[in-house]
Amino acid sequence: MLNWDEFHEDTIDDNSAVAEQPAAAGAPEPTPAPDAVAESAGAYQVADEDRMARAKRSLEELDVAAGLEELEMGAARIEVDDKQMINARADLNQLVPFKYEWAWQKYLDGSANHWMPQEVNMNADIALWKSAEGLTADERRIVERSLGYFSTADSLVANNLVLALYRLITNPECRQYLLRQAFEEAIHTHAYQYCVESLGMDEGEVFNMYREVPSVAAKSAWSLKHTQSLSRPDFQTGTPETDQELLRNLIAFYCVTEGIFFYCGFSQILSMGRRNKMTGVAEQFQYILRDESMHLNFGVDMINQIKIENPHLWTPEFQDEVTQMILEGTELEIAYARDTMPRGVLGMNAAIMEEYLHFICNRRLAQIGLKEQFPGAQNPFPWMSEIIDLRKEKNFFETRVTEYQVGGALSWD
Ligand SMILES: [Fe+2]
Ligand SMILES: [Fe+2]
Repeated sequence: MLNWDEFHEDTIDDNSAVAEQPAAAGAPEPTPAPDAVAESAGAYQVADEDRMARAKRSLEELDVAAGLEELEMGAARIEVDDKQMINARADLNQLVPFKYEWAWQKYLDGSANHWMPQEVNMNADIALWKSAEGLTADERRIVERSLGYFSTADSLVANNLVLALYRLITNPECRQYLLRQAFEEAIHTHAYQYCVESLGMDEGEVFNMYREVPSVAAKSAWSLKHTQSLSRPDFQTGTPETDQELLRNLIAFYCVTEGIFFYCGFSQILSMGRRNKMTGVAEQFQYILRDESMHLNFGVDMINQIKIENPHLWTPEFQDEVTQMILEGTELEIAYARDTMPRGVLGMNAAIMEEYLHFICNRRLAQIGLKEQFPGAQNPFPWMSEIIDLRKEKNFFETRVTEYQVGGALSWD
């Protein structure tokens, strides 16, 4: 909890602190006259003379022109036409003028959806998890596997964004969304950790599942493989081969990791919530799923924009290769469904999940202009689409505590 006292501890001298602090919540602060000038808190010492002289000398030596030369295209003003998704030579420090309004809009929409894990009441989940006959063994397995996979998967996604992708996407409005997405991934990892901690699960076991449980490890290894080549410090785009490598990474993360690998676990946990079990965990997953569907849509827009700007990359061979990648991802998710549902549970089973994943696979292929591989596959879980589209105010599982502060737990006391 952020406390005003702690916040100001380092910046306000003890003698002046009390008088200068804002009034506590409840007691209205006197409104200053419109032209009032704040008074100095009192005498203070200036920095050492020698230090100040060195700082001024250093500023005199600063070569502004050379700094501007470092920017691509020198110091020229940016035109919209200079902007490109990849390999742009325009100055990346200037956000506007926008070229991709959709990217900025998604940044705004993502920010409007802000939430924090502590807003969700976990009490009913804790009681159910700890009671001997609360959940069946199959249901417990689903909760454990889900938290095992997701607690690490979102770190893989965040690391890919920050360590591999960010520098290669040469557009400021897309980077603005990537920064928002990176923070959302941190919130998701926080949410999984919050569930694991609330339920008193074995953290060592949960957080090591991505290495120790084969159906979880296979998905993580598949994603990690696609981060590795791009995160090499010497990796650069700019040739057809390296540009295609970047596209592979985007498809691996947005279409497969976030677009397929999350869907078995999400539908299992949300089905549990619909049956009034583990409703706090389910509510966390509901918010995460809504964020993830925006990540996916953003990734699809980026991929399609890169295709428009670089049609030479989208060769028949390359289309064939990425279709295979999406099929591989679907197979891994089906294997995960079989491992997590050895029997029917929560109104679903591995065979129904397989059709759902074939339906999802078709969607991912179609979204980036590829041919569906399972024509006619139907969505056996139409309620999943309903949950994805829910607004935050409409809480599907109705577990929220009524008194919470928007924007987290900021206290002015
Ligand atoms: Fe996430
Ligand atoms: Fe995500």
